[in-house]
Amino acid sequence: MSIEVEGRGKAAAIAPATGKLGVMIVGMGAVATTLIAGVEAVRRGVAKPIGSLTQMGTIRLGKRTDGNSPLIKDFAPLADLDDVVFTGWDIFEDNVYEAASHAKVLDHDQLEQIRPYLEAIKPMPAVFDNHYVKRLHGTHVKVGKHKCDLAMQVIADIEAFRATVDRVVVLWAGSTEIFLEPTAVHDSIEAFEKGMVANDPSIAPSQIYAYAALKLGVPFANGAPNLTVDLPVMVELSRKYGAPITGKDFKTGQTFLKTVLAPAFKARMLGVAGWYSTNILGNRDGEVLDDPESFKTKEESKLGVLDFILQPELYPDLYKDLYHKVRINYYPPRGDNKEGWDNIDIFGWLGYPMQIKVDFLCRDSILAAPIALDLVLFLDLAKRTPQLANIGIQEWLSFYWKSPQTAPGLYPEHDLFIQLMKLKNTLRHIMGEDLITHLGLEYYD
Ligand SMILES: NC(=O)c1ccc[n+]([C@@H]2O[C@H](COP(=O)([O-])OP(=O)(O)OC[C@H]3O[C@@H](n4cnc5c(N)ncnc54)[C@H](O)[C@@H]3O)[C@@H](O)[C@H]2O)c1
Repeated sequence: MSIEVEGRGKAAAIAPATGKLGVMIVGMGAVATTLIAGVEAVRRGVAKPIGSLTQMGTIRLGKRTDGNSPLIKDFAPLADLDDVVFTGWDIFEDNVYEAASHAKVLDHDQLEQIRPYLEAIKPMPAVFDNHYVKRLHGTHVKVGKHKCDLAMQVIADIEAFRATVDRVVVLWAGSTEIFLEPTAVHDSIEAFEKGMVANDPSIAPSQIYAYAALKLGVPFANGAPNLTVDLPVMVELSRKYGAPITGKDFKTGQTFLKTVLAPAFKARMLGVAGWYSTNILGNRDGEVLDDPESFKTKEESKLGVLDFILQPELYPDLYKDLYHKVRINYYPPRGDNKEGWDNIDIFGWLGYPMQIKVDFLCRDSILAAPIALDLVLFLDLAKRTPQLANIGIQEWLSFYWKSPQTAPGLYPEHDLFIQLMKLKNTLRHIMGEDLITHLGLEYYD
């Protein structure tokens, strides 16, 4: 008979999480400093890691009647927070205490408690070119003959830091770069390396960091919507060097709610005529996104989700004519406290219209920091699990992204709860536990 839990396999050979995990962050702004300060506050026992699935989430093992739901961090061999060491790069010289003070996400008193720890983390000079982020003018930047030379300097940075820890993960929490499309230079490692020497304009700084990390077998996560690892060259590097990659653009506020609400409408076969989303935010991210070229990068990432979730080709009567608009407005008084408004025009039985209004007064970096932490810890786990490291793209981490990455030709899964099931079943799978199908007939036998 079919059962709710099935497929107990053999546990994968996972290397233990012993020693230090080095986290190298590109861009030590609001998200990065909120992550670093938060991890330190949690380590000191003065705050809780709220919003982090790896730290607070549980995973059911076996049948519902077994009553066995350990914490994910006790189940899978994740790095312990005490073993996490941070460093990074930025185009400004501010140490993490100064950068966190400017970002104004965390209270002054909270930062003072951990000030010496934060002051000790100073960014290395960055690979930066104002052409790719128009609103910023960096002063703390690397100089090189060409882009390949800059990549070699990043490789040297990673190698030097790696010599002081046991494993490394690189996370892009830098500003959103201008909208770029793949070109022939992104088709293969060979073309990309030649392109770097020729200073090809299609190669953005984020791609140079990603190249350096992947070439060293180091996992890379892209918190922004830039064209960075979603390129054939990066997939090739990822598979060749066993360096996991996975999607882009943290799914934090408005899109997070979109990927909860849209599947609910589809589940009930309710139509959607229009979805108007607007945001006001006043942090540096907002300032960068005020530039039309950076905004376009973000817009593309935010627009993608509804089509994939609602599948208008399968449900033309419900979603074929959906009008979807996304706006981001820079409004300095709000700082990091973003307001995301959604007006949703839906229709029901016999086509009668209804409206839903969502006004999410969120805190951008408070939502992003735990996601960044989980990604770093899960990518490190993937790197230590040959079954995952060797496949390159980690689709099971789609849960965290506005734009999940998939194998070519495969549409991404955007429904948050399917994504969560995928993530937990992957953990069960590599740990040799039964997968959970939610069938459940055996309870009625
Ligand atoms: N906070 C969220 O909820 C959220 C959600 C999704 C995506 N993001 C993305 O995450 C990124 C970071 O957001 P943030 O709020 O921390 O922005 P921020 O402006 O506070 O920080 C970005 C930092 O990156 C630095 N930087 C820019 N280019 C760089 C380069 N080439 N090398 C090194 N450093 C560089 C900037 O100097 C700045 O300190 C943005 O791209 C944003 O769109 C944030």
